[in-house]
Amino acid sequence: MKGLASDLAELAARGWIRVQGICSSADLIELGRTIGCPVPSPNGEMVKEIRVISRASALPGSQSALHGTGRFPLHTDTVFWPVPVRYVLLRGSGDTRRTTTVLTFDELFAVCGRPIVTLAEKSVWLAGKNAKPFYCAMRLHHPEATGWRYDIDNMCPENAAAREVDLALRQVVQSGIGNEIHWSGDSAVILSNWNVLHGRGPEPPSEGPRTIERLYVR
Ligand SMILES: [Fe+2]
Repeated sequence: MKGLASDLAELAARGWIRVQGICSSADLIELGRTIGCPVPSPNGEMVKEIRVISRASALPGSQSALHGTGRFPLHTDTVFWPVPVRYVLLRGSGDTRRTTTVLTFDELFAVCGRPIVTLAEKSVWLAGKNAKPFYCAMRLHHPEATGWRYDIDNMCPENAAAREVDLALRQVVQSGIGNEIHWSGDSAVILSNWNVLHGRGPEPPSEGPRTIERLYVR
């Protein structure tokens, strides 16, 4: 990293940063330790390797089961945790023609118009459709930070405000809008998962194997 203090300042200001010189999963874990405490994914893996797989061979309820090999909508990771994970670190390699897309909640709300923020503050949702769903707010409050959660695949609107927010946001998060990240195999991206949504770009022609390594950090 070019300078931890300046990188963290940029991460706090913009919500995501790109870090060069991350060439392995060990590098990714080391990077994660500079910003917090790495925690395992729900399947128990510390660094989860995510590959493009067909709908037929995907686990039931997974994003691949829902969207196949196509684009994944912009989303917050782990909305089905009472407090979603604070940071998501990603590193892509292989056939890197397929991009990852990121969009801040500020950018999302700007597209939808500011009144949506007021409704989002009042919205109530049922999170975690597949296991132990619970009621939650979209707004995240923490002594050190605030943010949002949103995932059309794992959150159901439960009051009028949430239904209106969902109507406005779900089209945008599926539209392909966002900043495109082109992977090179030797860089990583740190996302503030409370402030930045991420998604998977469209499938390129005759796509070869592509791996995204993902590390959660709280
Ligand atoms: Fe994700």
